[in-house]
Amino acid sequence: MSQYDAFADFEQAGWSDADIAQSYADSFAPASMMCVPAIVGGLGLEPGQEALDLCCGPGIVTAGLVATGAEVTALDFSHAMVELARTRVPDAAVLQGDAADLPFEPDTFDAVTIGFGLPHVPDPQAVLAEAHRVLRRGGRIAFSIWEPPARSFGFRTVTEALRTLGAPEITLPPAPDANALADPEVAFPALEAAGFVDPQAEPVDSHWRLDEPEDFYSLFHNGTVRMGVLMQRQPRDRAEAIRSYMADEVRAKCGRDAEGRWIVPLPAVVMSARA
Ligand SMILES: C[S@@+](CC[C@H](N)C(=O)[O-])C[C@H]1O[C@@H](n2cnc3c(N)ncnc32)[C@H](O)[C@@H]1O
Repeated sequence: MSQYDAFADFEQAGWSDADIAQSYADSFAPASMMCVPAIVGGLGLEPGQEALDLCCGPGIVTAGLVATGAEVTALDFSHAMVELARTRVPDAAVLQGDAADLPFEPDTFDAVTIGFGLPHVPDPQAVLAEAHRVLRRGGRIAFSIWEPPARSFGFRTVTEALRTLGAPEITLPPAPDANALADPEVAFPALEAAGFVDPQAEPVDSHWRLDEPEDFYSLFHNGTVRMGVLMQRQPRDRAEAIRSYMADEVRAKCGRDAEGRWIVPLPAVVMSARA
């Protein structure tokens, strides 16, 4: 029993919802996709080497690994995500399983990636330790994490909307800090405690390009688990106030591209290290 058991069940149920999985792939993932070059680029993979993508979701990082010519295995605990990844990245072997309890022998892979998976597990340190166990010595790990609200327009706006306009009785199960590993002072010691050396951090200027400011609310509402549930459980008037606040913030603070789409920042960091 851990203090985060309810959170673990909540996450698994949420990501196993086929509608959330599809919405994540269609609407939320364009921001996470912008981190793929930083995740894959530093791995030094050569064709034929073996790579493992944990918490693969619909195969965002998986596809980047396949493009290097590596032999790619991907793993996610959501059947819905596994099905999406198998369809979208047919050249990868996609398995259903828990990132904290990997079904692989030690020293199996040349690289392990985790795209925005660690904020969703009850014990990120256990996942880093598993990654280290299955990596060959000299192999590399890279994982992405969203910047915390203080450094992110996207997360600051959604958390502020929920804090000030949401019903206070609507809460989530206790969970580890979702953005803690975006700080090198937390991430580097965590990597070193798992056995990694030479940790590095690379910021990524990830963002969405949205047709309408109101899409900002919809992509959290439809395509995420924690924020999505907090939004879906609001009474109608509060939900509408949250939606309006988020859209107004986009109109007031975000620029537009040449096609008139709103550029909504959701910055991230890619951490990497060597086994
Ligand atoms: C935010 S999505 C990230 C998807 C993709 N890697 C990306 O970069 O966009 C998080 C994924 O982690 C998966 N996940 C969460 N906890 C997991 C666990 N303990 N084991 C395996 N997968 C897990 C979820 O099912 C979900 O697909």
